Amino acid sequence: MTDALQPRFRRLLVTGGAGFIGSCFVRDLLARRDGSRVSVLDKLTYAGNRANLAPVEADPEQASRFRFVVGDIADPAVVAPLVAESDAVVNFAAESHVDRSILDPEAFLRTDVLGVHVLLEACRAERERVRAGDRAAAPRFLQVSTDEVYGSVATGASREDDRLEPRSPYSSAKAAGELLVHSYFVTYGLDAVVTRGSNTYGPYHHPEKLIPLFITNAMDDQPLPLYGDGLQRRDWLYVADHAGAIGHVLEHGVAGETYNVSGGNERTNREVVTALLARLGKPWSLVRTVEDRPGHDRRYAMDGSKLSALGWTNTMTFEEGLAATVDWFRDNQNWWRAIKSGEWDDYYRRQYGARLAGSREAT
Ligand code: NAD
Ligand code: TYD
Repeated sequence: MTDALQPRFRRLLVTGGAGFIGSCFVRDLLARRDGSRVSVLDKLTYAGNRANLAPVEADPEQASRFRFVVGDIADPAVVAPLVAESDAVVNFAAESHVDRSILDPEAFLRTDVLGVHVLLEACRAERERVRAGDRAAAPRFLQVSTDEVYGSVATGASREDDRLEPRSPYSSAKAAGELLVHSYFVTYGLDAVVTRGSNTYGPYHHPEKLIPLFITNAMDDQPLPLYGDGLQRRDWLYVADHAGAIGHVLEHGVAGETYNVSGGNERTNREVVTALLARLGKPWSLVRTVEDRPGHDRRYAMDGSKLSALGWTNTMTFEEGLAATVDWFRDNQNWWRAIKSGEWDDYYRRQYGARLAGSREAT
């Protein structure tokens, strides 16, 4: 996560650290045993899971440098004291699933926009404390954003200064969040950086998303609901590479700048499904063509050269990463079976009930 033996930031606040990418960031950071301390602030929504941090809590040395706080990033009373004792804030907390944003957008505005604002206000207050001589330096703020803010990209690859054209409630809220971050850099001189990651996959991925949903459904010989023609294209990024890139930008990124984190693995959804079925030894006949997602972005692709120039390189190929992911889900059934129960059933019915009833065999 850092190239130096001494980390630049010794006390980190990681918001949304019980989620998929945030928990990977925390596990990998603490496993470096470099003395840095991590506080996770997480609301534990349906997507947050303390089990994602079990490896940290089971290791006495790591656990001694780790604290878990259950709370909402949109609650200033919870946020302010945590930011006051941190050298850096890394904001993973978000409502993150496009399909849920179509079913119910409001929570996305609350967390992905207002929550970001509350975090920024707390950082701004710390700048005032620096001016008053109460602390040496204000915290650095890193906002974890997404390639989806560029909207659907028919050809070529998005660069950081391209126009933002988000098209879903999720990506619009994420765009609003990162624009607020930029405005706090410009207006108040906040030390802030933004990353825009591409579609991420790997262990601990919530089974609502394409890859883990299809792996876990296929393991149970359940139908795999492929939206529309399945020729939409995504650029896949292994979770440890995404988390590592965020750590790299935290350490080395220039204040006020935004960095694409590209996976370099553009695939159609059909190609992804074919590959995961092959790894599992399951037949294509499980795949069902279902009604498409409204406003479905056809393609995401980003140019990652700015981050490469900052010195970051991904380590995992898509083939290795997918194999590791399939194997992890095969070996950790307790983890995902616990998630695919309770609230899950209601969500699955709303999202897929009518779709599967009206589905046809995928060719
Ligand atoms: P996730 O849904 O797995 O985790 C989100 C976490 O945030 C959960 O632990 C949840 O409990 C927590 N949370 C939600 N609302 C909160 C609130 N109001 N206060 C405190 N905690 C709250 O998401 P993820 O896939 O790990 O994504 C993390 C970040 O990365 C998000 O900001 C997302 O927009 C971004 N991102 C994700 C991807 C991807 O493919 N998954 C790609 C690019 C960027
Ligand atoms: P998803 O994992 O939801 O990520 P995003 O929408 O943020 O890219 O979906 C990845 C792709 O897979 C996207 O084109 C939608 C498609 N998809 C399906 O075809 N069926 C599904 O059940 C899901 C969840 C996604």
